[in-house]
Amino acid sequence: MPRLTAPDILKMKASGEKIAMVTAYDVAMARLLDRAGADMVLVGDSLGMVVQGEENTLRVTLDEMAYHGRAVNRGLERAHLTIDLPFMSYQLSPTQALQSAGKLVQDGRAQSVKLEGGVRSAGAIRACVEAGIPVVGHVGLTPQSVHAMGGFKVQGRDEAAARRIRDDALAVEDAGAFCIVFEMIPSALAAELSATLAIPTIGIGAGAGCDGQVLVCNDLLGMDERFMPRFVKRFAELAATIEDAGRAYVAEVKGGSFPGPEHTFDSSGRVYGGGK
Ligand code: KIV
Repeated sequence: MPRLTAPDILKMKASGEKIAMVTAYDVAMARLLDRAGADMVLVGDSLGMVVQGEENTLRVTLDEMAYHGRAVNRGLERAHLTIDLPFMSYQLSPTQALQSAGKLVQDGRAQSVKLEGGVRSAGAIRACVEAGIPVVGHVGLTPQSVHAMGGFKVQGRDEAAARRIRDDALAVEDAGAFCIVFEMIPSALAAELSATLAIPTIGIGAGAGCDGQVLVCNDLLGMDERFMPRFVKRFAELAATIEDAGRAYVAEVKGGSFPGPEHTFDSSGRVYGGGK
């Protein structure tokens, strides 16, 4: 099956088909979400928090993004693979941005890269696009600026802040991005910008007026029962399921009922009971 390309994603806006984006960090998750029909799989730098257990995304490196990108790519048959440029891999100059994006394409197998910021990142976006690397923008709450924003807070709530987000979104489109993520902005602002922009908008905490949605896979699967921000909907409760399965395994090991004869080999290599 051919992989969805940046032009395919762009066309989905014109045809009115909603875009389903989701994060993944390893091959098993990528394979399942691809099979489930996700259009775009994002190796987000959220991996710093959900995989590495850090309190924010700031310590994730370019090498780590490429490593997880390669793993995720092996699980995809149809979905488009986007990989985040991590903190300090593109902020220094457009040249640095292009070098980093090139690494994510060559070593991480990215079909496109995502980077945060609007007006301030326009040069970085343009450099990548001019070199033939499709870019996804990201405005509103930009987690790599968590210290400047004073925490993970809704952005664009007053008129001046909303105007800055409008300027940022227009700068991202003008610089050549094929798609843009809106994170934690008021739904009316996201809907207005979705109607204004020619490129698809993907919301996370930005309401139903966007052209698509993105969630972190661990959140939609309910992998951490302590984490439940308003914009997350849990489509499963895997934390409880995994803990129950782990508990059953431990009990069977300790009680001696696992492994059973059907999990055991004789000296010929056959499983007792006839299997291989
Ligand atoms: O890093 C990430 O997972 C993201 C999404 C939440 C949009 O940027």
